[in-house]
Amino acid sequence: MTIQWYPGHMAKAKREVSEILKQIDVVIEIVDARTPLSSRNPMIEELVEHKPRLVLLNKADLADPESTKKWHDYFESEFSKSLIIDAQRGKGINQIPGAVRDLAAPLLEKWKRKGINPRALRTLILGIPNVGKSTVINKLAGKRIANIGDKPGVTKKQQWIKVGKEMELLDTPGILWPKFEDEEVGYRLALTGAVKEEIFDFQDTIVFFFKFMQKHYPVLLKKRYDLEELPENILELFDDIGRQRGCLVAGGEIDYDRVAELVFRDFRHGKFGKVTLETPQN
Ligand code: G4P
Repeated sequence: MTIQWYPGHMAKAKREVSEILKQIDVVIEIVDARTPLSSRNPMIEELVEHKPRLVLLNKADLADPESTKKWHDYFESEFSKSLIIDAQRGKGINQIPGAVRDLAAPLLEKWKRKGINPRALRTLILGIPNVGKSTVINKLAGKRIANIGDKPGVTKKQQWIKVGKEMELLDTPGILWPKFEDEEVGYRLALTGAVKEEIFDFQDTIVFFFKFMQKHYPVLLKKRYDLEELPENILELFDDIGRQRGCLVAGGEIDYDRVAELVFRDFRHGKFGKVTLETPQN
């Protein structure tokens, strides 16, 4: 898959986020529960360094609950704390302030030792595009915050939002660039909406998706397209779905582009049920 890559923009985003991080007590990193590793930028480790970090597995409503649990355990063992949330419906949002306070316990202790009056804990939401950063900010704020930027970096004048008595949240998220370490990461990002549709190939992406579904969720794939048998051959699978859904060109040939787009939209709209595209082992 050919993906556009702008090292200059990336460096700028990194500089902006690093600058803001100086004011932050606890970082809240958001990942997509369907692609928890592919939807992170490894740069985050370097950026966040020793700051306490809460990892939110968002869009849990769309992900396989068994895998989400595994990912939750993974993040809790690798990085301090993780919560499973569905920001769109507000599920799990009210656990965030408590988790932030727990993570900041050593800092609060330090303030106390030094006789410093505790102030509200300052937090920043960080993540790649489309993982739900704006949705989480709006839910925590209890209102819609206008003009949340969508360019990597921290793109507008920031203001602190009070969340309860003990937490403050920057109203602008830190936006990281997705990292396309390998082709499969790119396909996962395409399927979950982290990259723009113009820059990836639908057919390649859906070939990847079919192979993944055949291996991990064959029943869901079969059910979605009322297939009696699930063909092993990917081309046959395109043919069966194309015929079933009337994706044909003149002469009755299968329109593979249309099949790919249809399957892609079905995945985007959660029509297969709860699917996670990577597990902690792979
Ligand atoms: P961002 O700031 O990180 O870029 O993400 P944003 O909050 O804008 O959310 C991206 C899309 O994901 C939005 O849908 C939003 O409603 C959806 N979303 C956020 N959290 C959840 C969640 O927990 N579950 C589900 N199912 N969806 C969630 P959108 O505007 O319709 O965009 P798109 O889905 O068409 O890309």
